Amino acid sequence: MTILAIETSCDETAAAIVKDGTEIVSNVVASSQEIHAKYGGIIPEQAAREQIRAIIPVINEALNPERKAFSVKRKEKILPGLYTYRHPLASDIDALAVTVGPGLIGSLLVGVETAKALALAWNKPLVPVNHLVGHIYANWLGGANSPRPEFPAVVLIVSGGHTELVLMENHGKFKRLGGTRDDAAGECFDKCARLLNLGYPGGPAIEAAASKFQIPNSKFQIKLPRPLLYDKQFDFSFSGLKTAVANELKKKISSAEEIFFSSALAAELQESVTDVLVYKTLRAAEKFRTRSVLLAGGVAANSRLREKLNSQFDGSQFAIHVPKIKLCTDNAAYIASAAYFNHHPVPVGKVDADPGLDFNS
Ligand code: KG4
Ligand code: ZN
Repeated sequence: MTILAIETSCDETAAAIVKDGTEIVSNVVASSQEIHAKYGGIIPEQAAREQIRAIIPVINEALNPERKAFSVKRKEKILPGLYTYRHPLASDIDALAVTVGPGLIGSLLVGVETAKALALAWNKPLVPVNHLVGHIYANWLGGANSPRPEFPAVVLIVSGGHTELVLMENHGKFKRLGGTRDDAAGECFDKCARLLNLGYPGGPAIEAAASKFQIPNSKFQIKLPRPLLYDKQFDFSFSGLKTAVANELKKKISSAEEIFFSSALAAELQESVTDVLVYKTLRAAEKFRTRSVLLAGGVAANSRLREKLNSQFDGSQFAIHVPKIKLCTDNAAYIASAAYFNHHPVPVGKVDADPGLDFNS
């Protein structure tokens, strides 16, 4: 089954074609991140306008037979008209899939209404997909030689807006174990990066700054808290870390040492967040005796998180699955995969954008 999926939940406009839920035919992502970077965060109205500009070119590119395996670019031009329906490849598409939420309403509407229009014009089934469930399926896109995750699995979804720990008993069968009580892990990185003047998006900026902290300098032995680390629940809380970072920044540092201080703080922040995420995920996997542990979401691109998860696992109990870095952040390939493994088409008239959709909906 070949699925064309559309994802527009935030500041990425994405379209992808995936065969049988695992084989990526095309995967196109246009991001308006550069625009938001100027303001240090996403401006929803601006993100929605960029979605409108990019949606048709991105779908066209996904359907383009000369497409590249993966491309990330922001289109500057609006291409004239919706002509994809005449493209011969449209006949190869068995179904459409679209992210219906959670996300920004203006952004979501662009993808949802476009997918509905294409489903009607092409007379194809349309599968609505929860963005958070979609992220998980990046673990099924590792390529022909990568082992498939086995159930039951514990899944850690860490993105800009969510931190969720979930027990996945089968496709479509989830039990939420816990989540953040305040800021998400990615949000914590984004907010702290802003405090540290490292730019947006914060996660990659924190990772880059942390990588410069190689020589431990006794002057900068910063110790941040590990919130809720030993709490018996599987909840998280990251908003206190932002305050702790702000307090550290009140210390008097000479301008010559500022860069070292900033990288020391970024490194300790990364250690704190990843310590909590990894410890709780492995504890959940032990408690529920799962066969696999799956990482998903934009923060899953963090090398330290990936490295820690692998190093703290003894190899005997469960398999660790970590998606390819390019598939961690928002794209439509995992939406297509989720739609294949949870193939529940819904009549076009009943598909609506749902910005507040949560994990259990
Ligand atoms: O999943 P995603 O692309 O969008 C949402 O659904 O939110 O996640 C974006 C989040 C941002 O907070 C970004 O700072 C974070 O993922 N992120 C990272 C890294 N790359 C992206 N966080 C830590 N390290 C990274 N390398
Ligand atoms: Zn996402």
